[in-house]
Amino acid sequence: MSPNSGALAVAGRRGVIRRYFEHLPVTEKTPIVTLDEGDTPLIFSERLSQEVGAGVWLKYEGLNPTGSFKDRGMTLAISKALEEGSKAVVCASTGNTSASAAAYAARAGLICAVLIPEGNVALGKLAQALAHGARVVEIEGNFDHALTLTKEMAQSRPVTLVNSINGFRVEGQKTAAYEVVEALGSAPDLHVMPVGNAGNITAYWRGYREAAAKGWCDFLPRMFGFQAEGANPIVRGHRVEDPRTVATAIRIGNPASWGGAVEAADASKGQIRSVRDKEILEAYRSLAAEGIYVELASAASVAGLRQLASEGLVVPGCRVVCILTGHGLKDPEWALAGAPRPRRVPAAIEPILEHLELA
Ligand code: F0G
Repeated sequence: MSPNSGALAVAGRRGVIRRYFEHLPVTEKTPIVTLDEGDTPLIFSERLSQEVGAGVWLKYEGLNPTGSFKDRGMTLAISKALEEGSKAVVCASTGNTSASAAAYAARAGLICAVLIPEGNVALGKLAQALAHGARVVEIEGNFDHALTLTKEMAQSRPVTLVNSINGFRVEGQKTAAYEVVEALGSAPDLHVMPVGNAGNITAYWRGYREAAAKGWCDFLPRMFGFQAEGANPIVRGHRVEDPRTVATAIRIGNPASWGGAVEAADASKGQIRSVRDKEILEAYRSLAAEGIYVELASAASVAGLRQLASEGLVVPGCRVVCILTGHGLKDPEWALAGAPRPRRVPAAIEPILEHLELA
């Protein structure tokens, strides 16, 4: 069946559960907690396409309601928690999961508890969790420690874990792959994305495989996941005890869905690789120069695309999709750090024109 025949998303329906109802583990009895997430733009990048000699599209997931891809999985995880009678949810987070969990829990009237790593959560993300009334604790440890503790909490207390080890998260997130197939009319040849806890690459791979099984596309993409070099356990083949990167969202040393990432890369003839912080920052700036504002972790996909191109892995004329996972407004500090502060001038036309070099 052609993806353009309306076989995928149900036209006119908002939010990923309603749009993809038949393809998700929900029933008529599931209370749908939604903020109209999903249906994000797939933007063609003229500049990147020219640079790498292929067609490059950017899936701008920063345009989800809380500013990251997490909302696709959270709508399902929170809806199912509510259906199962849960009163509280808990998550560990580098920031975006907590922002999303807090918003959807608030909408559902559930308590949301959040464990964040010490000193490494972007301010915008923390502000979101607090604004939505989450109970936030900063632990003296990193994300991996926080995740271990939340798993223990979910085992010993009546709270639902909403990290991506909750299977409903991955189910919701797979809808992004459906949307890519729907927009392109096929799968891309290469799929490039950042990898942290590895739930999202697991979800995309599932989404593409299902799309092929349902006849919406007739081939699968090669999946390339990029970790930051100082936080690249999958590339190294062992956990990283003290992960370090400027891209705090993916500062993770022991990904929960490690196996899912390896499976996606191996089965698709792709790879899990790493990019340096410097390359992430360069990609962040070049995306901004093209009008697209993302957070640092998201820029890892474009840094990764450049690496693939430099090694001759981007076949001329092929189609590439890069996933931009989160919005730049989450963490404006990096934009401010790289630009001169606006100069103060008198409120008169002449000095303004002179300063702007428009005189
Ligand atoms: N990009 C952004 C903006 C993220 O927030 C994350 C993960 C990733 C990429 C990596 O996705 O973990 O599925 O491989 N953020 C999590 C959080 C860990 O707590 O918000 P992944």
